[in-house]
Amino acid sequence: MKLTLNNLYRQLRPFLFAGDAEKVHERMLSSVEFISKIPGFLPLLRKVFFEENPLLHTQLFDNVIDNPIGLAAGFDKDGRIHPALFALGFGFVEIGTVTPHPQKGNPRPRLFRLPEDQAVINRMGFNNQGAWKMAERLVAKTLKIKSADADLFEVSGDYPANISSGMLGINIGKNKDTTLENATDDYVSALSTLHPFADYFTLNISSPNTKDLRNMQEKEALRILLDSVCARRDELDRNHSRNTPLLVKLAPDLDEDALKNSVRVMQEFSIQGVIATNTTVARPVLKSKYRTETGGLSGKPLQKRSTEMIRTLFAELGTDIPIIGVGGIFNGADAYEKIKAGAAAVQIYTALIYEGPGLVRKVKAELADLLERDGYKSVSEAVGADH
Ligand SMILES: Cc1cc2nc3c(=O)[nH]c(=O)nc-3n(C[C@H](O)[C@H](O)[C@H](O)COP(=O)(O)O)c2cc1C
Repeated sequence: MKLTLNNLYRQLRPFLFAGDAEKVHERMLSSVEFISKIPGFLPLLRKVFFEENPLLHTQLFDNVIDNPIGLAAGFDKDGRIHPALFALGFGFVEIGTVTPHPQKGNPRPRLFRLPEDQAVINRMGFNNQGAWKMAERLVAKTLKIKSADADLFEVSGDYPANISSGMLGINIGKNKDTTLENATDDYVSALSTLHPFADYFTLNISSPNTKDLRNMQEKEALRILLDSVCARRDELDRNHSRNTPLLVKLAPDLDEDALKNSVRVMQEFSIQGVIATNTTVARPVLKSKYRTETGGLSGKPLQKRSTEMIRTLFAELGTDIPIIGVGGIFNGADAYEKIKAGAAAVQIYTALIYEGPGLVRKVKAELADLLERDGYKSVSEAVGADH
């Protein structure tokens, strides 16, 4: 059944790719959101796609997660289908980018598939329903996950309860109309609204599709941002006996000096992780007809650059601050390469579009095989092994 489903996506792909990329994505979100409400669907999804492999259990921040393969931000911007995404086997799922107020994003079309390049260009511009709507959904979902778990236990019988749902990250950004001078208020506001629901927060200061957002990676701007956001996070954590990791997501287009400067600033604050990388505005040689579209490029053409950046970051940070590696991961070997370059965990987006939901299981199995081949007893032993 598992193989048939993987192949099924390949058979379906030409039909999916015949439609507008964003419309197909929206239809998928609505369908999955709808069927996830049917009792028994999530356990069934899990039974089909989820495969546990103890070798992949690993620590991220202070939690043990089932595996180091996560879903990258932007796929489920409003937190509509993360229970289904966990059921596919992701060890952690990052929802967002969400902004304090709802906003429409850029005019369409704004999402382009580049199949010849195994890539995507997007200029979505933080289209999302806003932090309050996300909070409202998460309240409802938190209760439903609990009942889904009970269901799941009945179907499978042998899943330990503690891995039935996973680590949920929330990626936050600023509204388009908020000036850079006031941007910090937006991050503080989104964090305050969503604090009860996040296992970690990511500060997205690296999307190329919100004007000047990337300037926030610069020393002074970053210092101002981290000063306020860390203070607010600390205050909320204190009041609610939590320990919420705060991550910063960086652009692959930073040169080495700029990257090192950003790292220095992060080290001044209590930051628990770095995500490398967001999409790139660089345009390597591409074949597809949409190659000249404006926006952020992701997928295979980003792979090398993001791994290089992980390498530089690991040389600066060692294992003090975990690095989450993202950019062009299509298989277990790609994930393994980023882990050996220094990533404690990885994330995937674009490859899901090309390979479908069976990809998660495949990447996990391949990664486990590679670790075993090289004699590693755990993921963490392999982190930064290249250095
Ligand atoms: C359509 C699309 C939308 C995205 N939206 C966001 C977003 O809202 N916030 C964010 O931090 N990254 C966003 N990203 C970037 C991804 O999270 C990831 O960093 C990037 O695509 C590289 O990984 P990949 O090559 O596996 O896709 C988006 C990527 C794509 C393709």
